[in-house]
Amino acid sequence: MRTIEAIKHPLKGELTVPGDKSIGHRAVIFSAIAGGRSRVLNLSGGEDNLRTVQAFEDLGVAVRREGKGLSIEGKGWDGLHAPGGVIDCGNSGTTMRLLSGVLAGRPFTATLDGDQSLRRRPMQRVIDPLGRMGARISSRNGKGLAPLEIRGATLRAIRYATAVASAQVKSAIILAGLQAEGITVVEEPQHTRDHTEIMARAFGADITVKGNSIAVGGRQGLSARDLRVPGDLSSAAFLVVAAAVIPGSDLIVRDVGYNPTRSGVLDVLRRMGARIEILNPREESGEPVADLRVLGGRLKGVDIGPEMVARTIDEYPILAVAAALAEGKTTISGARELRYKESDRIATMTSELRKLGVEVEEREDGMTIAGRERLKGAGVNTYGDHRVAMALSVAGLGADGGVTIDDSACADVSFPGFFELLERLRRS
Ligand code: S3P
Repeated sequence: MRTIEAIKHPLKGELTVPGDKSIGHRAVIFSAIAGGRSRVLNLSGGEDNLRTVQAFEDLGVAVRREGKGLSIEGKGWDGLHAPGGVIDCGNSGTTMRLLSGVLAGRPFTATLDGDQSLRRRPMQRVIDPLGRMGARISSRNGKGLAPLEIRGATLRAIRYATAVASAQVKSAIILAGLQAEGITVVEEPQHTRDHTEIMARAFGADITVKGNSIAVGGRQGLSARDLRVPGDLSSAAFLVVAAAVIPGSDLIVRDVGYNPTRSGVLDVLRRMGARIEILNPREESGEPVADLRVLGGRLKGVDIGPEMVARTIDEYPILAVAAALAEGKTTISGARELRYKESDRIATMTSELRKLGVEVEEREDGMTIAGRERLKGAGVNTYGDHRVAMALSVAGLGADGGVTIDDSACADVSFPGFFELLERLRRS
């Protein structure tokens, strides 16, 4: 249990956030399957990224902690060996789905499992394409749920149109495609985060992107390289919203990944009236990076339509809090995928915001939130979902009497140190 008291003064100062979770997973994966020693700097200490590190250690890859970085000794695809036991992906959907793509082409059997939340999440979306490529994957009761037993095989290339916009599914197919015979093509309904494509290229792979279609040649070996993971925009978003809704705030978040496939949250906040400046735009290891400056004020409600989903997918919980503190109504639509995240984020944000006195209408693919000037303090549940926990904590800053969350430890999945940072801002 943890109580986040209402804040009485503007947020000021400068800070950084942990390394990007999505890019971190890929940095570890590509380092592990490349040939040679790669060094990964600024990997978040979040539990999800550590699950991916542990998974490759289970598969026989040597990983050493070196100062602020990791040194990963890749020995190519054939350097991976059958694990001694079940690989535990914890809470991490990215670990499970991307690893499925890697293991699909390896000549051994491995079992992937996870926590209660991960065991509820849909895995058929990777089982189908990887099965068509030749891997044999069985799931719990044949229902597409973890644990998954993956029997790798010699893979054939496929052309595959994903039914839902999912970077995890796309990435699993690309990772399998790199091992297959022939050219694998993935087509997506919406352009999702392209960190896998960028990272594959950085490790020397031949991969081409035309619109929403990605083609990757098979039987590709990759070469080691050093890289630095930029700060996570999805983590920064909690602090950006905190500053944006508290009038008089002036906060700078330095060194944040600013990939256009991820930055929907900033576009939405700007439409809501937030003043956000992009400072020092630059590129690091092929990824756009910038510093963000946020000035606080009063936001107004907007419509967040289906076209925003892919670029904003992880930021709906915190955008729901921004909406709760905005003037007027915000409508989220076309976002059914939120029901398949670490929790059902439409249901959890609806029930918890209602406890804070917010009028919320829940629909199958979204919600309508009526904003208020102040929230009512209350005890809320996080459902073990890191982003729900952090979003509700930011809500606490604007709630008379504060907000008490039942589980703050789950924030460590992506943002270790989140509460200490919030506390530091409160005191500054
Ligand atoms: C991720 C993709 C998204 C996102 C998740 C991380 C990734 O999931 O929600 O937090 O790293 O590829 P989906 O691919 O299921 O949309």
